[in-house]
Amino acid sequence: MAEGNTARLHHAGKDYDLAVLSPTAGPDVVDIRKLYSEAGVFTYDPGFTSTASCDSTITYIDGDKGELWYRGYPIEQLAAQSHYLEVCYLLLYGELPTPDQLVDFETRITRHTMVHEQMHYFFRGFRRDSHPMATMVGVVGAMSAFYHDSIDINDPVQREIASIRLIAKVPTIAAMAYKYSLGQPFVYPRNELDYASNFLHMCFSVPAEPYNVDPALARAMDRIFTLHADHEQNASTSTVRLAGSSGANPFACIAAGIACLWGPAHGGANQACLEMLRQIGSVDRIPEFIARAKDKNDPFRLMGFGHRVYKNFDPRAKVMKESADEVLDLMGVHNNPTLQVAKELEKIAREDEYFVSKKLYPNVDFYSGIILEAMGFPTSMFTPIFALSRTVGWISQWKEMIADPQNKIGRPRQLYIGAPRRDYKPLDAR
Ligand code: SDX
Repeated sequence: MAEGNTARLHHAGKDYDLAVLSPTAGPDVVDIRKLYSEAGVFTYDPGFTSTASCDSTITYIDGDKGELWYRGYPIEQLAAQSHYLEVCYLLLYGELPTPDQLVDFETRITRHTMVHEQMHYFFRGFRRDSHPMATMVGVVGAMSAFYHDSIDINDPVQREIASIRLIAKVPTIAAMAYKYSLGQPFVYPRNELDYASNFLHMCFSVPAEPYNVDPALARAMDRIFTLHADHEQNASTSTVRLAGSSGANPFACIAAGIACLWGPAHGGANQACLEMLRQIGSVDRIPEFIARAKDKNDPFRLMGFGHRVYKNFDPRAKVMKESADEVLDLMGVHNNPTLQVAKELEKIAREDEYFVSKKLYPNVDFYSGIILEAMGFPTSMFTPIFALSRTVGWISQWKEMIADPQNKIGRPRQLYIGAPRRDYKPLDAR
């Protein structure tokens, strides 16, 4: 990035010149790294609405234009012309692979999709009705108990192996969490299947009969993985980076990312959104819920709407909406009431002054649940699918941070508004 003009801060009778750094795309940033040491003040930005936590070359979002690029390539082009493992290569290594590089990468991923057989016993410790995200946090974190030969973060070879293992094994663990919740036997990965087909096979096949993956369904699944692969410094990615900044091993960092993604304000919104659409139930009840979403005294929010960065249509939601019609037709689901409610809700909300003035548009989670439900997944599997898709983004951002010579432990400060210094008061004096 280029250093150009400076920003001047005038505080307590003194002027401080702060460097302004210019990016490839997006807003300039004011470099405040020396602010505290020179001016003795902190900046204050709860929720980091105006704060860049790092520099990165991986993903760019233009919230006003509704643009999303992975390594400079627009998401619409990747969703239409690429496939998930090629996108994984792009996110991890920065360039689209040559044919030989792609074959080699896909082979490496395929060869790591099985998990250590003893990991099967971890699942026994969970109740069958556990949320699969709880299981995933536990089992992915436990990978560091099995793959000791890839937890030295200072060894680039081990960082690479850990990255491949995570991209390859998290879908297997997600499918195992699903099978465990059903009381069905785990299904081993199949090396002859592509990544998306393998995941569908591990989720939906049973030993009692053959299961053939519908290629069109696999393509829709693969596109969903691509749309969720990375999204710059969102809450879960920032969690992975902060955990990684302490030197924690990659499996622990990804488990932390999964835990953060689970929240309904973040990756848990896809499950919450479908449950909301079901609760609305019919088009005539939409005004009631719109009114609740606008009521400051009601904590209800329209799940799948709004975004910290996008103040325009989330480009992923556009692709997802097109895919919803395609998948529902494929699955023979016509006049799906949930989709009818979603489309009408989107139409009404986008004409409503409250949503227009606050620039609240459907986000990636608004339509994804409708597709996943049509594919046969329960709502509890929606966020695990988001997590397995985002694993490549998390690990790419983690690798970028670890390899950055500027990398140091993340340690924000605070605005202390608690009690002033005071002396201890013995019990008999209180
Ligand atoms: C993801 O960061 C990422 O990139 C995340 C993600 C990724 O790929 O990693 O894109 C994935 O998490 C998508 C977001 C999924 N979450 C939801 O759909 C949950 C519903 N949305 C909201 O909770 C909210 O919009 C957030 C959390 C997504 C964004 O919140 P912000 O940026 O903190 O915005 P805000 O809460 O300050 O809202 C601004 C205003 C507020 O009103 P005022 O206080 O200004 O009067 O808009 C209102 C909010 O009350 N508002 C909503 C709303 N979202 C915001 N009102 C009703 N319904 C909503 N959904």
